[in-house]
Amino acid sequence: STKLIIDTDPGVDDAFALALAAHSDDVDLLGVTSVFGNVGLAATTRNARRVLALCKRGDVPVAEGAARPLVHPHPHVAKYAHGADGLSGRAAALPEPERDVENGGAVRLLADLLESSAEPVTIAAIGPLTNVATLLAARPDLHDRIDRVVIMGGALLHGNTSAAAEFNIWSDPEAAARVLGGGEVPCVLVPMDLTYRCAVSTEWLDALASSGPVGAALTALTPDYLAHYRKALGWDGMVIHDAVAVAEAIRPGILTAEALPVSVETSFGPARGATVVDQRRPELRAETEVPGGGSTARVAVDTDLDALRVFLLD
Ligand code: BDR
Ligand code: CA
Repeated sequence: STKLIIDTDPGVDDAFALALAAHSDDVDLLGVTSVFGNVGLAATTRNARRVLALCKRGDVPVAEGAARPLVHPHPHVAKYAHGADGLSGRAAALPEPERDVENGGAVRLLADLLESSAEPVTIAAIGPLTNVATLLAARPDLHDRIDRVVIMGGALLHGNTSAAAEFNIWSDPEAAARVLGGGEVPCVLVPMDLTYRCAVSTEWLDALASSGPVGAALTALTPDYLAHYRKALGWDGMVIHDAVAVAEAIRPGILTAEALPVSVETSFGPARGATVVDQRRPELRAETEVPGGGSTARVAVDTDLDALRVFLLD
């Protein structure tokens, strides 16, 4: 089964993604690392540990990562979407963590797990890419221990945090550029264009809530997130971005992806954090001979929506 590490900033949809991996038989969840993002680092670490406790996965080590982006001095958080504590104000209702945080931090845990795994490891990066960028820079000897980095991030058409940028990339564009632009590890980008199309309805959430205590507890984390997505979508549902990416990490190919050149805008202008994905026909790309076209990543562009929603619910 797939060896998986999740790097995360929970976050309501991160909580859904963690629960998905925690309960999947197809995956060996080796560890979880936290990063600033939807809320500050102390809260994302707490939330990750509490969601694992909810899923009775005290066997999974958790380590704390970056509190701020690589270059910009301050993290930008998304309390407007996930609530003040990152889980619609309901974090305290989740069980107490069963296990201490690992010593040495996220990069250390990532490196230790990559070193000790018998098989190459998939990293699902569902928050800002700061920890992953730091790992790649610090430990080039471990690049070939990484099977794929499946990244929830990026926007082809328009952003959700600015007109141009999706939240995870906008939160640390230099880190995203390092991971996607280095060409060192195979990357799969799951952009918001696709995750929005995988939005779930309140009926889907009702089915989750009646599936059992974990489903009910996850659904209870959604009020603030649903209120945000009512504005973003214009209807009563929500986008579980990170669970879509983790589904691909668990079941390679559940999303249809195309190999496309991707680059990340890091200038401090209106396009900061944009992912520039070259979707021109390859013949045209070659003909125009404009330099700086980006590194190739697999970009998720489509999926069987019904099958995906059933997989997530199961
Ligand atoms: C991403 O930003 C966060 O708010 C979500 O958890 C997801 O990882 C979507 O843009
Ligand atoms: Ca996230």
